[in-house]
Amino acid sequence: MKFEKHIFICTNERDENSLRKSCGSCGGLDLRKDLVRMINESGLKGKVRANKSGCLDVCEEGPAMVIYPNGFWYLNVKKKDIKTIFKKSIVNNKPVAELIATKDKLNTR
Ligand code: FES
Repeated sequence: MKFEKHIFICTNERDENSLRKSCGSCGGLDLRKDLVRMINESGLKGKVRANKSGCLDVCEEGPAMVIYPNGFWYLNVKKKDIKTIFKKSIVNNKPVAELIATKDKLNTR
């Protein structure tokens, strides 16, 4: 296995006239940059990969991201919370209880 962990951060962009929200224009790109920096600073380059992803189909709850193989989903991710998510879910393999997406959030659009 090349990477132990993947973080997929939606950076999908829609036309400015679109009625649907898009993570690329509500913080997804910036979150990915933060995650890449934290991966490098933590010496996890080569073990953890932060990938830009296309739409994860939870657009109204964006910016959205998911961490595999854990399957931890985070929605409406705030810049101020990304460090907490990184430390707990990437470094320590635990969900951030107060931030992790619930099943009902993932099933609604
Ligand atoms: S645009 Fe990000 S989940 Fe759809």
